[in-house]
Amino acid sequence: MMQETKRRLFVTTALPYANGPFHIGHIMEYIQADTWVRFQRMRGHEVHFVGADDAHGAPIMIAAEKAGRTPQEFVAAIAAGRARHLDGFHIRFDNWHSTDAPENHQLAQDIYRDLRKAGLIFTREIEQFFDPVKGMFLPDRYIKGHCPKCDAPDQYGDACEACGAVYSPTELRKPYSVLSGAVPEMRRSEHYFFQLSSSRCEDYLRGWTQGVDARGVSHLQVEVLNKVREWFTRDGEGRHGLADWDISRDAPYFGIEIPDAPGKYFYVWLDAPIGYLASLRNHFDKGQAAAHWHAPSRTSQTYEEFVSDPAVEQVHFIGKDIVYFHTLFWPAMLHFSGRKVPNQVNVHGFVTVGGEKMSKSRGTGISPLQYLDIGLNPEWLRYYLAAKLSARVEDVDFTPDDFVARVNSDLVGKYVNIASRAAKFISQHFDGQLAYMGATDAFTDGARALADDVAAAFGAREYARAMREIMAHADRINAAFDTAQPWILARDQARRAELQDACSRALAGFHLLSVLLSPVLPVTSGRVARTLFGMDRDFTWDDAFSLPRSVRPYQHLMQRVDPQTLERLFDAPEAATSPNPMPGAVMSPTPATSVAPGEDTITIEDFTKVDLRIARIVLAEAVEGSTKLLRLTLDAGESGADGQPRLRNVFSGIATAYKPEELTGRLTVMVANLAPRKMKFGLSEGMVLAASADDEKAHPGIYLLDPFPGAQPGMRVR
Ligand code: MSP
Ligand code: ZN
Repeated sequence: MMQETKRRLFVTTALPYANGPFHIGHIMEYIQADTWVRFQRMRGHEVHFVGADDAHGAPIMIAAEKAGRTPQEFVAAIAAGRARHLDGFHIRFDNWHSTDAPENHQLAQDIYRDLRKAGLIFTREIEQFFDPVKGMFLPDRYIKGHCPKCDAPDQYGDACEACGAVYSPTELRKPYSVLSGAVPEMRRSEHYFFQLSSSRCEDYLRGWTQGVDARGVSHLQVEVLNKVREWFTRDGEGRHGLADWDISRDAPYFGIEIPDAPGKYFYVWLDAPIGYLASLRNHFDKGQAAAHWHAPSRTSQTYEEFVSDPAVEQVHFIGKDIVYFHTLFWPAMLHFSGRKVPNQVNVHGFVTVGGEKMSKSRGTGISPLQYLDIGLNPEWLRYYLAAKLSARVEDVDFTPDDFVARVNSDLVGKYVNIASRAAKFISQHFDGQLAYMGATDAFTDGARALADDVAAAFGAREYARAMREIMAHADRINAAFDTAQPWILARDQARRAELQDACSRALAGFHLLSVLLSPVLPVTSGRVARTLFGMDRDFTWDDAFSLPRSVRPYQHLMQRVDPQTLERLFDAPEAATSPNPMPGAVMSPTPATSVAPGEDTITIEDFTKVDLRIARIVLAEAVEGSTKLLRLTLDAGESGADGQPRLRNVFSGIATAYKPEELTGRLTVMVANLAPRKMKFGLSEGMVLAASADDEKAHPGIYLLDPFPGAQPGMRVR
């Protein structure tokens, strides 16, 4: 398969507005692109994968002002949080930059000059609302007023939420500026336009949007092309053809100055996609060109060399809401400024939660950091999204039950399970050596066919199909293993070869699946390559065609999802019913306890009667004859009459939740002045504190209290 010529790929995701942290929709887009990039790299292709913050525009300028910061400071603060998200989900951009960087100022101005030279820029005076208090022109979304149809108050400048009427901001009655409350005035201003309506542009774009690249792949998905065709027939106002594009904004504006036009700035959507090129240039200038691909000889290439190579393929990943910008404005800007145009604009749908649009106010927003902080494995999400993503523009629904089922039954139950079952026998009986009885041709032919199918699916962004084929093969491997009944073979000295063969085939299958899952599970597959198969590198695609000869002892690879953890994933609804709604506080949609705390009150004196102390669990032991109790030896910082440390013996009903070895050495909280109690197994001299639900049947689980680092045995808890 490696006869395929080496591709040179320039890959981007949409540049997120730098006015807030990533949400799960961003993360999905990056995971989709990162998976594709990792797949291409495994095939030996050269990939440059870049992103950047989209820094400019009125909303960011206004948000910065509200925060009492300059726009530059504001976007820098947002940018500082990006790496944690990206690293957390194993999203590996080669470079992350900003549209406010010098490279972008330069490129945007260069491209504009080229378009002007091409005769596609003209100016026209327009009338627009102006806020006399703020001294600035108002974007439509910053004007409100009464609906011209039904008179509902506080409606935005474009549409009425009460009656659904659509209108222009000038039609609003009693208009006011959202920024200052002032009554806006109509003012005239000269604006710069890109002549998209010209027949030159229209002809070019009709061709490009329907086109295929050198490899025979269409620039656009069918459903995207259908949408674009509608735009050619009718613009937003119902006129025929494409409308010219207003590319200028008046000062004050956070953006890039238009050359030879004092006080005029590029509209943010002009310089935003140019940010793709700015980030690529910055990546090359930093000399990182070879950081992640297999052609060290190319390290010295420059940005200019790269973008002027006609073999380079430019591939964009974007969401369905920004198609117009990427399929009309962007290719036209590039083409008429004499630059390379995109090869593919890959459009995805939106993430929905439980079938609905994500909404903070309904508590269905998922914070990516929250996901990581509560200890959910990033590869679970990567796998879950892969299992649902196709090349079509379809929304991807996240439902907790579905997530748990896919991860636990597919990923852990089918895939990981193979290794944990088979490797044990090989380590125990064959010193890690694999051996196959009879011919392995059928086996390797099958592997080749599967790997080719899965490669075709990854290449075409049909990840769900790839995951289905992979899991179907995992089913076959598990079934063959069950049929061989290795646990019976293991009892029969005469059937050793059969046992070794059955386990070797299962592990060879696991090896194959791990190669194929690598773009989705980069960390787990890396661990499989190194710790199980003893390699000194990650898998490449060609590893799918080799049979492993030995394994090392199996080490734990992946946990199951605990469905209860998932409940903590959802943001608190914004209008929280909690008496103390903290911003960003976590509220479980289904609380684990059913009884409201705090019915009867006690005084502070009552509370201080309880002597609570930090205690170290010096030793935890199982109790003979009890399945519930553990015997704890606690050090609460006390000493006896002889000056020696006094240790306490406490029996605690936590044996169902903890193994003794998990607890030994840890700190917890103890009631120190509880009267000693004689129990069947001995004297209990206190009690440790643990949380559990009122309804222990419905919500089993016991959680021992665990002080923050720094607490010392003997400290009072109060
Ligand atoms: N700044 C522009 C893009 C400029 S590209 C030159 C922008 N930013 S955004 O932050 O609003 O969106 C960034 C990307 O996230 C877009 O591709 C958008 O479609 C995607 N998504 C936004 N919400 C989403 C979901 N709920 N689900 C999936 N993707 C989503 O648009
Ligand atoms: Zn109305």
